Amino acid sequence: MSFLYGGDYNPEQWMNSPEILEKDIELMKKAGCNVMSIGIFGWSVMEPREGEYDFSFYEKVIDRLYENGIKTILATPSGARPAWMSMKYPEILRTDENGVRHKHGVRHNHCFTSPIYREKVREINEGLALHFKDNPAILAWHVSNEYGLDCRCELCAEAFRVFLKKRYNNDLDKLNFEWWNSFWSHTYTDWSQIEPPLSIGETSSSALTINWKRFATHQTIDFYKNEIEPLKRIAPDIPVTTNFHGDLTNLDYFKFKDYIDFACWDAYPDWESPKGNAETAAGVSLIYDVCRSIKHKPFLLMESTPSNVNWKQYNKLKRPEMNILSSLQAIADGSDSVQYFQWRKSRGSAEKFHGAVVDHCGHENTRVFKEAAELGERLKNISAVQGSDVKAEAAIIYDWENYWAIECANGFQKDDKKYKDECLKHYKYFWRNGINTDVIDSEQDFSGYKIIAAPMLYMIKPGVSEKLFEFVKNGGILVSGFMSGYVNEDDLCFLGGFPGGKLKELFGIWNEEIDTLYPEDRNSVGFNGNEYSAFDYCEIIHPDTAETLARYNDDFYAKESAVTVNTYGKGRAYYIAFRGDDDFVKDFYDSISVGVSSAAEYVSFPDGVSVRTRENETEVFLFIQNWNKTDVEINVKSALKNIETYESVSGRVGLKKYEILILKKAKN
Ligand code: GAL
Repeated sequence: MSFLYGGDYNPEQWMNSPEILEKDIELMKKAGCNVMSIGIFGWSVMEPREGEYDFSFYEKVIDRLYENGIKTILATPSGARPAWMSMKYPEILRTDENGVRHKHGVRHNHCFTSPIYREKVREINEGLALHFKDNPAILAWHVSNEYGLDCRCELCAEAFRVFLKKRYNNDLDKLNFEWWNSFWSHTYTDWSQIEPPLSIGETSSSALTINWKRFATHQTIDFYKNEIEPLKRIAPDIPVTTNFHGDLTNLDYFKFKDYIDFACWDAYPDWESPKGNAETAAGVSLIYDVCRSIKHKPFLLMESTPSNVNWKQYNKLKRPEMNILSSLQAIADGSDSVQYFQWRKSRGSAEKFHGAVVDHCGHENTRVFKEAAELGERLKNISAVQGSDVKAEAAIIYDWENYWAIECANGFQKDDKKYKDECLKHYKYFWRNGINTDVIDSEQDFSGYKIIAAPMLYMIKPGVSEKLFEFVKNGGILVSGFMSGYVNEDDLCFLGGFPGGKLKELFGIWNEEIDTLYPEDRNSVGFNGNEYSAFDYCEIIHPDTAETLARYNDDFYAKESAVTVNTYGKGRAYYIAFRGDDDFVKDFYDSISVGVSSAAEYVSFPDGVSVRTRENETEVFLFIQNWNKTDVEINVKSALKNIETYESVSGRVGLKKYEILILKKAKN
């Protein structure tokens, strides 16, 4: 099998220009494309008037592509509905966080509870499934587009109450207790008094906010289940997915795991931004690792731009070679596709200046097209990698509910507690050292890993302490630290001292206080013979069974422990009580012997180069990527084979700026 290569294709924008659609096919073949995502915003064409379905235009396009070796990922169109529908059924319009119901316009703005919208979606999806179920061109269903925005209308409020009744066993007293509603006289005496969080209403109850976010994920999945019901019933052999996106803050994607056949991602990183491409690339890999860890199998890169986007503050072009490098990064991290938004630039409206493989000029003589075609060729040459796994012995816990709880806590640094940055800081250590990493939530199985980093694990959900105890007892290394073990799943603080949920015993410490520093403030910590800055947060902890590895130097807690280790069973649990910088995190992990396999066994490489591996039963593939703006040198320790040129590679090898080298090693 080859990698999938293609992108979002919007032929409905060119319905009156058949010559353009023909030209597209010619150009797609030149670029080496074998798949297009079609119909994402096609509802007005598919159902121009209520109940009048017409799939003939798409069928013609899909068949024509298929005759030319290009398959289709067919979308359900619920991401943007026709105007007639909004006018006739205003209940389907979204109500926002200010309690305002929107007018018709833009996209991604429906009520996910509305029975009418659900019915309309089910009907058109049924029509699509009946029409295309036996069409060999259809590779998968692309359900809707980038679910995300929630709705706070009365229908959603009522569904929220039903969700809460289930969660709290119909026991309002229990909900009042868990939400600490005696505070500010918030006790509910009837379920009907519970409203979604609204800017003009309840904003102070963190338990309400967290549960609303849980509900928003639940209700989106419920909406999605309604979408896939006809697809699965009528066309059971066509896999389903929905495209995830964003910055890991909105919907809890891990909860989709049982309802998608594979995960996929839309990636739009800030390449060439002042923070540097290596830093950006690490953040992107973290996201791909989340995406892969949802199903623990290869995912698809569903959207990316071949050049620029048009919706950021500054929409810089990808530099030459960056599209190839960044696209192959997704492959390195476990994607089995590279897909773009968009195949051809639209002529008018909101996205006419967004990058595309085919620009307004309409031909292939552009830098962007040529690079896309070169990538198409390279993807063919590396097809042996398709389907292989990314095996990881290290995991980072990134947990959405934990993120929500941290962000809505009043206290600490008010507006941004930087949970994701803290996860990224630990993640970067593994990424820079060629160590494959899964990024999982706290509900997943921990047993297959050798090391788990769980920074700022503020919320301890039921069963998580027990799993962590088991993990460490069996020889695992656990790294956590400040702001961990503060609240339970309903955001109630643990009594009896932090870290709660029995983690005091696992880490062998007690955390008495946390000091939030002004941005300019610095404490310092002596660790491993070096001095490191401590900033943002410093906890004052007391070792019980733990051994102290580092102490604070300044302020009233000078000489108190700043880093500890507790041995438990065959493993170790480390607690880092302060926020440190990348250098500290590096020194920390270097000094504790993490004991996991790394691509550094095969190759040594300088900063700004990343190495990731995928493997199948017989071979390991190494993706060596130079994110630096300069040429560098790596050292291949024993002879490996370049999978594109078949040459044997060993010793010192030059890597040009933005070059990627893909090598393989036979397994013993
Ligand atoms: C995505 C979206 C696409 C397109 C793209 C532009 O988030 O799914 O439809 O708008 O952004 O970057």
